[in-house]
Amino acid sequence: MLKVTKLNAFYDRSHVVQNISFDVHKGEIVTLMGRNGAGKTTTLRMLMGLMSKGSGSIVFDGHECFGQPAHTRFHLGLAYVPEDRRIVQGLTVRENLQLGLIASPNNNQMAQMIDETAETFPRLKERLDQEGTSMSGGEQQMLAIARAMMARPKMILLDEPSEGIMPILVDEMFELFTHLKEQGTTILLVEQNVERALSISDRAYILDQGEIVHSGVASELLADQEIQEKYCAV
Ligand SMILES: Nc1ncnc2c1ncn2[C@@H]1O[C@H](COP(=O)(O)OP(=O)(O)O)[C@@H](O)[C@H]1O
Ligand SMILES: [Mg+2]
Repeated sequence: MLKVTKLNAFYDRSHVVQNISFDVHKGEIVTLMGRNGAGKTTTLRMLMGLMSKGSGSIVFDGHECFGQPAHTRFHLGLAYVPEDRRIVQGLTVRENLQLGLIASPNNNQMAQMIDETAETFPRLKERLDQEGTSMSGGEQQMLAIARAMMARPKMILLDEPSEGIMPILVDEMFELFTHLKEQGTTILLVEQNVERALSISDRAYILDQGEIVHSGVASELLADQEIQEKYCAV
């Protein structure tokens, strides 16, 4: 589904992603781990086309995307939920969901898509007409993910979705990822909550100072305390 080859990214002259190669197969959950500042967010932004200073190849669903704008990738079926959620103030949950649509359906189709999405996100279903920003941080994160799912993407990039969220919602969030996977969505997950992330992932890559220093099957990395301590402590 995604094949990244020799990807580099720069902020001015600072070379923050260095020649990384990795792939994500259709239907997988893959976690990208690493300390603060390792280059995880930068990698996701490069994948989505939100920054372009760098080089390499990003093949998504058979299309070379490097150098293509974000909206092209979105239309190919790639979605991104940034760390800061960006729920629009003054809009209801329903209206925020409408913003995620890829096409302009008629009112009936729109209502149906919102209903279908809300089935996967019960917390939102009860709150469709409430203002989005009036909800808790975790609920807003659910809304950000639901909004991305409105486009029915093939693959979703999630940047630290469980950060700063109440434990009970963290549980729900990880169940949700498993559910999205079962429904056929491929997931690239960036998480500090390493144990939780690995426990639902197929594979993982560890990024350190802009380089991939380790990769493997999630269950093996989960058992490897040494690697986790070395590369994943915040
Ligand atoms: N807008 C920016 N301008 C300059 N440097 C940045 C910017 N954003 C991030 N960096 C630097 O790039 C490196 C990687 O950052 P980032 O991708 O955010 O890491 P992570 O998401 O793994 O914490 C860090 O050294 C960070 O300080
Ligand atoms: Mg980050």
